[in-house]
Amino acid sequence: MPQRYLVTAATRHAPSSPSSLALFPRPRREDAPQRRHDLREANKGTARMKLDRHYTDPRLVELYDRDNPRGADTDFYVRLAADLAAQRILDLGCGTGLLTRELAASDRQVVGVDPASAMLAVARWQPGADRVRWVDGDASALGTPEADLVVMTGNMTGNVAQVFLDDSEWAAPLRAIHAALRPGDHLAFESRNPDDRAWERWNRDATFERIDSPYGPMECWLEVVSVGNSRVRFEGHNVFTDTGEVIVASSELRFRSLAELTDSLIDAGFTVEQVYGDWNHRPVSSTSRVLVFVARRG
Ligand SMILES: C[S@@+](CC[C@H](N)C(=O)[O-])C[C@H]1O[C@@H](n2cnc3c(N)ncnc32)[C@H](O)[C@@H]1O
Repeated sequence: MPQRYLVTAATRHAPSSPSSLALFPRPRREDAPQRRHDLREANKGTARMKLDRHYTDPRLVELYDRDNPRGADTDFYVRLAADLAAQRILDLGCGTGLLTRELAASDRQVVGVDPASAMLAVARWQPGADRVRWVDGDASALGTPEADLVVMTGNMTGNVAQVFLDDSEWAAPLRAIHAALRPGDHLAFESRNPDDRAWERWNRDATFERIDSPYGPMECWLEVVSVGNSRVRFEGHNVFTDTGEVIVASSELRFRSLAELTDSLIDAGFTVEQVYGDWNHRPVSSTSRVLVFVARRG
């Protein structure tokens, strides 16, 4: 399922240190209006770029970590960073920074980059956030920092790589990542496997959920709007049942094949070292839900 949205242990006032955050470990419903205000303020930096409401609507942003908890993908990237002995890591599209903060736990230099200010605002409130440098921007903000690992992960969903719809849009971050890495160092990311046809499961029956959010009970589901040209447009429906308010978040994702992703990496100057079909290092098959790439800068 694509990321559903969003809640984190956001607190009413952004604490100055991780230890003070522990005093407010869970979101409280009565604090919701203040949190919403804080995230709206954070969004003011996001205006320059069109982003899905999943990443900008304060209420949906707050639901992100609830619906996208730590998982096997987190383990995969943490282990990869250890195996590669990576010390300088860039997390592009870091979102609320769950993986980013874990990568930074081992005395590494870690930078989390994301164009959605509201997602970064949540990231900055979490325990361990002060070990990460958070950058509000897209791949053009990477510069040439001589990273030894760049990750782009969508919390099981491959969303970051898939938000780049046109081939030229996808080539730009690959170029920027290439420039940010030292020769011989690595890029790792995942993208949904088009052979798995995940969009066929994105319908109301299969995805309907009732949840208790900080903003009251909600009903959420997904619906596909169109499929074609390797792209899927879909909507996340979010109904606040107390008020009847509805937020419909529209998304469009590109589903690139194993061959297309491999070619794009080679064109950008990478060598593909591994492609896995899941987070346990199994080979790719037609039923693999994700394509997990580990590529080396040539
Ligand atoms: C599914 S979330 C993944 C967040 C995080 N990496 C995780 O695994 O939970 C996708 C993220 O990609 C970010 N994003 C959207 N467009 C982007 C772009 N052009 N460049 C970099 N990140 C982008 C969104 O703001 C969002 O935070």
